[in-house]
Amino acid sequence: MNKIVILTGAGISAESGLGTFRDEGGLCAEHRIEDVATPEGFAKNPKLVHEFYNKRRNQAADVMPNAAHAALARLQKNYPGDVVIVTQNVDDLHERAGASVLHMHGALTGALCAACDHRWMAPPEMAPDDVCPNCLTQATRPDIVWFGEMPYEMDTIAGHMSNVGLFVSIGTSGNVYPAAGFVQDARMIGAKTLELNLEPSEGASFFDEARTGRASEIVPAWVEEVLV
Ligand code: APR
Repeated sequence: MNKIVILTGAGISAESGLGTFRDEGGLCAEHRIEDVATPEGFAKNPKLVHEFYNKRRNQAADVMPNAAHAALARLQKNYPGDVVIVTQNVDDLHERAGASVLHMHGALTGALCAACDHRWMAPPEMAPDDVCPNCLTQATRPDIVWFGEMPYEMDTIAGHMSNVGLFVSIGTSGNVYPAAGFVQDARMIGAKTLELNLEPSEGASFFDEARTGRASEIVPAWVEEVLV
């Protein structure tokens, strides 16, 4: 069977209690992206950026995966190797629901050394004077992909997308590339495309089918359809 490739965004974690970016009162309303999600913003004020991610890291640790995360993990277990989950999210709710996932934008649980590329488990609170356990410099940063940086896992994702039979987009506004372009890539090779979102995204018209509703309801319902 061709692969099912599932792209998730902040909307799948919204019902676990984590804020999205562009909804009313979302993360983009609290902070300017250039201040907290760019290399320039980090260079200018590393303390502010660490505080932004420390808060999100601890919020993510305090919440639980919801029925949508659980349903995707169940689907993946049912079709081993044929269900690929790619997430734009940096929380670990997919993993904690039992799924394996490719993080395009990095992970709050990761710390990275900009000097030697060493990665390790981030402590609950990171600070500008943290020292890299490998090269002992203070070039440490959250292992998050910021705007202007190359997303992770793109070669692996391209490999899966080259034989996708069904592309499903869940809980993303379709604002940020390259993820927002995956639906077009899927259509180019004749895959079926489905959007599951609270409301039609910017790219909803590119999908063969767009269902609206809360992820914790419409994702399990869709998985039940696929599993029967
Ligand atoms: N169920 C389903 N969908 C939901 C829910 C819900 N309970 N709540 C919100 N949504 C939908 C919204 O309708 C919106 O389309 O989730 C989407 C969230 O969109 P954004 O806030 O733009 O988040 P996302 O698409 O993941 O952002 C992509 O932008 O800022 C960068 O790197 C950041 O990974 C992020 C990327």
